[in-house]
Amino acid sequence: MCGIVGYVGKKQATPIILDALKRLEYRGYDSAGLAVLANGGIEVHKTEGKISDLEATLPDIKGLYGIGHTRWATQGAPNTINAHPHVSGNIAVVHNGIIENYQELYDELKGDGYEFVSETDTEVLAHLAHKYYKGNLVAAVIEGLKRVKGTYAAAFLCGDLNQVVAARKDSPLVAGIGNGENFIASDVTAFLKYTRNVVYMHDFELVSLSSKKIEFFDFDGNPIEESIESIEWNIEAAEKSGYPHFMLKEIHEQATSVHDTMLGRISELTGDVVLGEVKLSKEEIRKLERVVIIACGTSYNAGLLGKYLFEGLAGIHTDVDISSEFRYSNPVLGDSTLVISISQSGETADTIAATKEAKTYGCRTLAVTNVVGTTLSREVENIVYTRAGPEIGVAATKTFTSQLITLYLLAVHFARIRKKMDVDMSKRLLVSLKQLPGMIQQILNNRESIRKQAVRFSTARDYFFLGRSLNYPIALEGALKLKEISYIHAEGYAAGELKHGPLALISKDTPVVALATRASTYDKMLNNIKEVKARGAPVLAIAGMDDTEIGKYVDAVIRVPVTVELLYPVLSSVVVQLLAYYTADALGCPIDKPRNLAKSVTVE
Ligand code: F6R
Repeated sequence: MCGIVGYVGKKQATPIILDALKRLEYRGYDSAGLAVLANGGIEVHKTEGKISDLEATLPDIKGLYGIGHTRWATQGAPNTINAHPHVSGNIAVVHNGIIENYQELYDELKGDGYEFVSETDTEVLAHLAHKYYKGNLVAAVIEGLKRVKGTYAAAFLCGDLNQVVAARKDSPLVAGIGNGENFIASDVTAFLKYTRNVVYMHDFELVSLSSKKIEFFDFDGNPIEESIESIEWNIEAAEKSGYPHFMLKEIHEQATSVHDTMLGRISELTGDVVLGEVKLSKEEIRKLERVVIIACGTSYNAGLLGKYLFEGLAGIHTDVDISSEFRYSNPVLGDSTLVISISQSGETADTIAATKEAKTYGCRTLAVTNVVGTTLSREVENIVYTRAGPEIGVAATKTFTSQLITLYLLAVHFARIRKKMDVDMSKRLLVSLKQLPGMIQQILNNRESIRKQAVRFSTARDYFFLGRSLNYPIALEGALKLKEISYIHAEGYAAGELKHGPLALISKDTPVVALATRASTYDKMLNNIKEVKARGAPVLAIAGMDDTEIGKYVDAVIRVPVTVELLYPVLSSVVVQLLAYYTADALGCPIDKPRNLAKSVTVE
């Protein structure tokens, strides 16, 4: 996730900005840069790679005002030109977020005569501020940002003024109030060394920093009063925004990450999905006879849901294969097959090798990945980024739900083009998709009841997760999450398959998590619940808030908000993640770094 910082004060800005950027390194980044007010103008330096690379090339810049950035690429490759700051005339900007109406603004600014040098969406922010600047940076930034749809935490520096201006919408921004110096940053870790007095800014708020004063404004330019908080956390806790583990932080980020995955990709007006990244023509999409999804681990579980979606919505025969198996399976593929490789890291050796293998059959290729510029992205014709932001905990959480959202979007996109879904249905589905972030937040608000259930069963040695149809992949994912971080043996099973063997293992000592949200298979799921109850198993159901029946058959129910059948898997995912997390926490496991596992598996 990009990190932004800004400094104004009496000290040299460059070393403070570099130090603050280093504090944000843990967020992940691929390039870095800074702009400092010096020599009667702004000096900009940036580079692909590490902050230490930037530091190594910097001249001795004398200046007391500056902004800095670590970039996590979302639009445009991770290289020096795309690194921030971006400049227009004497105004420089650093930005964290996504500009949804980039194309419209780009066309307008091009028409005005502005030259674009990078592939980033951020460059429009620099040109907009320049376009509206008439000696007052606050007014120019407000006027520019009012034109922007999307998300941003952005900081601006102008060569004429001893001032830094920053504003936010849907991306974090915090101001730090020091003694004769003031700061802004994406999170407090950046400047905790210098001050513990902070203001957490809200959407559509703007801050103007000079060494003598710090002022806050709304987007009408009216001054606003902010409350100053004192931070008690140490640096390590601050990196996790106060959460005890990155995994819990990342689970909590899902209301935002799921929103970011959808941002600018849904047209409620036409009921269409807008995926400009998919270069396949409409004709090619219509002619597809088969989709083959290849992935490993959690990404494979996402792929299993993809099969239901591509077949159920877009009418395309779909197979899902584990990457390491696919390679050696003599697959039958041709040019009417689309191979979709799913990998959050984009560096998983098995998935890269399987993708290379698929290409030798002449099929079309598409990657669903979270990291820009990775090895996988260089192997495929089409890339759809999940935009979940960097994930630090080894167990995939927010990247999984963003993969699911991406698969919904792709399936609707294909379904509309293949005329398998009418506009009313797609509008209904897209509206429901857009409600998911709020619903995820409701589940997160209910985390204490999930924690209680996790603690209650945390002494179990074996666990079962049961689901049918769309819930089956989430049963697999729930079991995978639990075993990898709590070391409890867990099986994910298609509920109807239980009686074909594993029922022999069910006893009072095997808690069963039943994914029982409303679905066409709901009654059959109730029968499966009765089967395991009859063998003495304690059953914990995940069900909708409207389900008045389920409580009669199970020991406890974790409720999720009511949505359409197709979308419950996203909500149930958050519940199984929290269950796994709190179980591992109760057992004192090293949650962010489970034994024997790595975040990116670059060996076969
Ligand atoms: C589980 C987990 C792994 C990964 C798998 C594939 O929590 O994170 O199972 O899903 O190693 O990784 P990517 O998606 O990076 O290809």
